[in-house]
Amino acid sequence: MMSWVQGIHHVTAAATSAQGDHDFHTGTLGLRLVKRTVNHETADQWHLFYGDDVGNAGSIMTNFIFEDVPLPAYRRGRGTITEVAYSAPPESMQFWRRRLGEAGALDASGEEDQKAPERFGDLVLRFRDRSGIPGEIVACDDSRAGSAGTEEVPREHSLRGLHSVTLLSRIPELTIGFFCELLRFQVAGVEGSRTRLRAPSGGPGSFVDVLDEPDAPWGRWGLGGIHHVAFTVPSRETMEQLARVLSGAGLILTDLRDRKWFHSMYLTEPGGINVEFSDLSPGWTIDEEPQSLGTTLCLPKQWEAQRAEIEARLPVLEF
Ligand SMILES: [Fe+2]
Repeated sequence: MMSWVQGIHHVTAAATSAQGDHDFHTGTLGLRLVKRTVNHETADQWHLFYGDDVGNAGSIMTNFIFEDVPLPAYRRGRGTITEVAYSAPPESMQFWRRRLGEAGALDASGEEDQKAPERFGDLVLRFRDRSGIPGEIVACDDSRAGSAGTEEVPREHSLRGLHSVTLLSRIPELTIGFFCELLRFQVAGVEGSRTRLRAPSGGPGSFVDVLDEPDAPWGRWGLGGIHHVAFTVPSRETMEQLARVLSGAGLILTDLRDRKWFHSMYLTEPGGINVEFSDLSPGWTIDEEPQSLGTTLCLPKQWEAQRAEIEARLPVLEF
């Protein structure tokens, strides 16, 4: 059976400061700034894309920067994405533990976990970025090339891409049904309150973990929280077919939106999680050369005419 999605495309969160967000992701995590742009809806807000050297789908973390833009804090609870996880080679976990520790980013509440940090047999390091966005590094075999490395994060230790997201569903059986019955994911394993699903492609980058915590409060997305997870749809034709399947199941999709580097449609699945579907066309190089990705302010088409004013209004950010 044809698969609708090829795993995670990107994950998007709300960060507090452009400089802190940039420095953490490109410095501490050693990712590449793939695109510097602004919110498609609100041009006064930075939107920063990080990933591997070419910005492969499945490596991309994108953050909206709510600097000088009021937003209540994220509250962990049912109906929210609680973690985004990257993968790294198992031999690199000492390196990452030390590096995240030195950056003051290891999750203090995860100290106990750090002693027995296995999940489905893989070591897990938990951290918080400068905005408090909950992240993880999972030690696993991952054949993806990952980042070429930086001075501080050598190639052998570099993050290979996104590993998974963890969803604390309001109604776990509905979230699992959405992924398995509609998107053709499969249950890969169950560990305590965590059910791991995987897209047909399999491997790191294809995993969605669904938590069942019936006593948890209802959550609320906000500052320091993850807003949505996007999955890769291989073509526009598949996107049309998927829209039929999802709409036929009674779900309400947005229109197909031009995101300049790809096209996306959005929905909230029945367990309360925001999900996006994105294609791969035309890609990051439509407005920058591959070797200079992330070096210029690339504006969505509708903002281009106001470039000078927008540049002047954006919070200061040194690259
Ligand atoms: Fe997105």
